[in-house]
Amino acid sequence: TKVLVLNGPNLGRLGRRQPEIYGATTHAELAHLCVEWGAALGLEVEVRQTNHEGEMLDWLNAAADDANPVVLNAAAWTHYSYAIFDACAQLVAPLVEVHISDPHQRPEEFRHTSVVTPYAAEVVAGHGIEGYRMALEVIARA
Ligand code: DQA
Repeated sequence: TKVLVLNGPNLGRLGRRQPEIYGATTHAELAHLCVEWGAALGLEVEVRQTNHEGEMLDWLNAAADDANPVVLNAAAWTHYSYAIFDACAQLVAPLVEVHISDPHQRPEEFRHTSVVTPYAAEVVAGHGIEGYRMALEVIARA
């Protein structure tokens, strides 16, 4: 079964977006690394990014239908989207929540809540791009 790595808004600008927080790796590089890390774990990985919440919901609904494991960085949606919350609730295969930074250690109060966490088998946060490898390891073990 295919493992989906789904990245939400503003993550398409990785490498250029606030590199002091999110690092220098681009989204294209991240996608390549995830496919390689997955292959090393025996996983077929597909990486996608969208700035459009409806598109993310369609991907999550399809993952529910197809029973795909999901590694999700819902970015800012994490903190307020009840539609993402409801979509995560429908997943049947393991869901791992990833954040490049650690939202709980950041000063903005709004980052301290997550609609994804209630449905996540594990949360990986604050490990940079490496966190995606850790998330794939969780999926591989599940
Ligand atoms: C993020 C953390 C979120 O608070 C933020 O809105 C993002 C990225 C992360 O990967 O650290 O866009 O999910």
